[in-house]
Amino acid sequence: MAEIQLRNIGKRWGGFVGVENFDLTIADKEFLVLLGPSGCGKTTTMRMIAGLEDATEGEIVIDGKVVNDLDPKERDVAMVFQSYALYPNKTVYENIRFPLKVRRIDPSTHDERVRRASAMVELDDFLHRRPAELSGGQRQRVALARAIVREPNVFLMDEPLSNLDAKLRVSTRAQIKNLSHELAVTTIYVTHDQVEAMTLADRVVIMKQGVVQQVGTPFEIYDRPANTFVAGFIGNPAMNLIEGDISKSAFRAENVEILGLSVPDKKCVLGFRAEDASVVASGGQINAPIYTMELLGDSTMVSVRIGGALVSVKADKGYRAEIGDVVSISVPTEQCHLFDADTGERIDSRGQN
Ligand SMILES: Nc1ncnc2c1ncn2[C@@H]1O[C@H](COP(=O)(O)OP(=O)(O)OP(=O)(O)O)[C@@H](O)[C@H]1O
Ligand SMILES: [Mg+2]
Repeated sequence: MAEIQLRNIGKRWGGFVGVENFDLTIADKEFLVLLGPSGCGKTTTMRMIAGLEDATEGEIVIDGKVVNDLDPKERDVAMVFQSYALYPNKTVYENIRFPLKVRRIDPSTHDERVRRASAMVELDDFLHRRPAELSGGQRQRVALARAIVREPNVFLMDEPLSNLDAKLRVSTRAQIKNLSHELAVTTIYVTHDQVEAMTLADRVVIMKQGVVQQVGTPFEIYDRPANTFVAGFIGNPAMNLIEGDISKSAFRAENVEILGLSVPDKKCVLGFRAEDASVVASGGQINAPIYTMELLGDSTMVSVRIGGALVSVKADKGYRAEIGDVVSISVPTEQCHLFDADTGERIDSRGQN
C-alpha cells in the first residue's frame, strides 16, 4: 500500500516560484491527475515526488515515512516520462527486464515478470524486436511495461501519451485505465489534456502558475468550478463567463437580465455551460445578435457576443438562422454559477441568502 502526503511542498529557483504550498493527501490506490496549462508546475511536482528534484519547502511522506532525503532509487516509485527513453540496442524483452537487473531482483523470476508485464500492455508478439522496429504507440507501451515490471508502490506518469496520434491516445488511454484498475497502484498522472484527465482520474488537481486551484472528482470540477480559471479551463467549450452586476437578486449586463439569483449586490461574473442553456422563440434572459454558428453534427453551437466575451449555446441540430439575427437564450437560474468579479472565487448562489 502507498499513501502519499504532500505537506505544503514548494519549489523555488532563486526568486522564481515553480510550485507553491502544494498540500494534499493522495489515498492508497488512488488515480490522481495533475492538470493545467504549460508551465504551471506539473512536472516539477512529479519530479519532487520521485526525488529527481529537491523540494525547497515542505515534506513528502510516502506510507508514513518522510522521504525528502531519500534518493529516487530508495522511494519505490516508477516514473514514465514525457519523452520516454528506450535503449535502442536492446530488444523489447531486455528493455522491459532492465529495471529488474538494475535492482538485482532474483534472476529466476525475471522471465515470468517480463512476460506478465508485456502481456498487460499487449506486447507479447513484439518481445524480440528493437525499439526502431516499433510504432510510436508500441514504444510507449514498452515504457509502460518497464514501469509495471517493477511492481512499484507508486506510478508517476508524465504525459505518457503525448507522442501518440489522436486514435492511439484513445486506445492507450483505455489501456492505462484498465491497467491502473488491475494493478491497484497509487498513480499520479500528468496531462494538459482535459479529456484524458476527466476519463482517467479519481480526483483531478487543477494548477495555475504553481498554485493549486481546485482538487475534486471530475464531476465536482465540472459541476462546481471553484473559480473563473477552472470554469474557463474545463469543458469543451469552456463555461460561458459574462461580467456584470448583481442588484436586487438580478444579474445584468448588456443584453442580459437574469432574475432570481439570491446573492448580495456586487460586481460579479456569471457562468453557465452551453448545454445548460437553450435557444427559445422569445422571452429568454439573453437577447443578442448571432455572432457565429457552427454545425457540430449532433447539435448546432450558436454564439453571441456579450461585452468582449463569446457566449455559446447548444441548439438543435436542425436549428436554422442567419448571422446577425437576434436570438433569445434561456438560462435556468439553477444552472447559473456566480463568481466574485475581483477575486474570481465562486460565490455559492444556491446555499446562500
Ligand atoms: N531548473 C529550472 N530552473 C528554473 N525554472 C525552472 C526549472 N525547471 C522548471 N522551471 C520553471 O518552472 C515552471 C514549471 O515547470 P514545469 O516543467 O513543472 O511545468 P509543466 O506544468 O510540467 O509544463 P508542461 O505542460 O509544459 O510540461 C516553468 O515556468 C518552468 O520554466
Ligand atoms: Mg511538464
